[in-house]
Amino acid sequence: MPRVVLGVCGGIAAYKAVEVCRRLVDAGVHVAPILTDDAQRFVGALTFSALASEPARTSLFDGPDPIPHTTLGQNADLIVVAPATAKLLGKYAAGISDDLLTATLLATRAPVLVCPAMHTEMWEHAAVQDNLATLRRRGVHVLDPEEGRLAGGDVGAGRLADPARITDAVLGLLTGNRSLAGRTVVVTAGGTREALDPVRYLGNRSSGKMGHALANVAARLGAHVVLVTTANLPAASGVEVVRVDSAQEMHDAVMARSAQADVLIMAAAVADFRPKAPSTQKIKKADGVPEFVLEPTTDILAALGRAKRPGQVVVGFAAETERLREHAAAKLESKRVDLMVANDVSALDAGFEVDTNRAWLLGADGSADETALISKEELARLVLERVVRLLVGPADGPSI
Ligand code: PMT
Repeated sequence: MPRVVLGVCGGIAAYKAVEVCRRLVDAGVHVAPILTDDAQRFVGALTFSALASEPARTSLFDGPDPIPHTTLGQNADLIVVAPATAKLLGKYAAGISDDLLTATLLATRAPVLVCPAMHTEMWEHAAVQDNLATLRRRGVHVLDPEEGRLAGGDVGAGRLADPARITDAVLGLLTGNRSLAGRTVVVTAGGTREALDPVRYLGNRSSGKMGHALANVAARLGAHVVLVTTANLPAASGVEVVRVDSAQEMHDAVMARSAQADVLIMAAAVADFRPKAPSTQKIKKADGVPEFVLEPTTDILAALGRAKRPGQVVVGFAAETERLREHAAAKLESKRVDLMVANDVSALDAGFEVDTNRAWLLGADGSADETALISKEELARLVLERVVRLLVGPADGPSI
């Protein structure tokens, strides 16, 4: 039976941790709860003791075990903190251990999942986001909060993820989901550059973050991943990185690998047009304002859609600034893809460059689901969850 330490911090969402506890126990998990002092202002330790697999702990010093943090930390297969407050994230990122929960977090080598919940202003504060970035870099899993009703009648981002999603995430981490094992996934990332002359180019704002997140999550799920990218971002170990610059180079790299691929995901922002006759020498200012004639590039995604073999899954992204669903649905059909991920690139918190995104997932089967504002990693997880279902059929597709 897997052993999970459930850390509960002091926030209004603490009551939802009771549901997480019950669901995990129902799923056959041994749950050891730890409540911070502040958590006990919102929920009683007795509630958790009644539902969990062992009595809830609240202090480093109040039980028979003189070193409860190391016992709990060493025996855990996973630690989940739900809700994780800004204070907990700050202490964890800084390595401060001043209570049983923070001491246990430092005394474990088990995977850790934090589920933040707080008011929108706190969630968006640079200090909180920096702490989360630090924790992510150290391998801590983060289940981003959702948008919705918050304490005090406010509405916004920061609401604790639904207990069912938290439970799914815990079970996924415990079983080490390898739902893409044996599959080859080709992902593109970044913005292409079309030369005007040897020093200048036509480009776009794509940072490559979305595509790299997809590649990294696919690799974690056991896929052999080929990442065709223009970006200089790190990729997870095991990911085969192919660096390209122009739309033509990206086309050639993708098409050379498309026949072997089970899944092709075009997250790159590929130029639609390129200069027909780029100058071979640097264009001189003294020669006056140059005029360029553009010609279309090859549409890689449309070519993949046309050549799609049975069983292969092709995913496109639609970057739109208006009538998001309508334009994305038209692209889904014209490019003959299985799934179109439509994002509004005029938003400040989604699309290009930022770490978050919000998207419509439009399926060729007519399905249409909108995500909340979530991290690009979380969106990658949702997209790949759909991909797994398309590969194995809806009934067998596990939740990742
Ligand atoms: O990289 P980030 O900063 O993280 O930003 C992420 C993103 C905004 C770039 C990403 O989420 C995204 O929307 N990628 C698609 C960008 C794009 O080119 O969209 P589009 O609507 O113009 O094209 C539709 C689809 O056709 C895309 O899958 C694109 O890769 C593909 N395409 C476009 C032109 C072309 N010549 N060949 C293609 O394959």
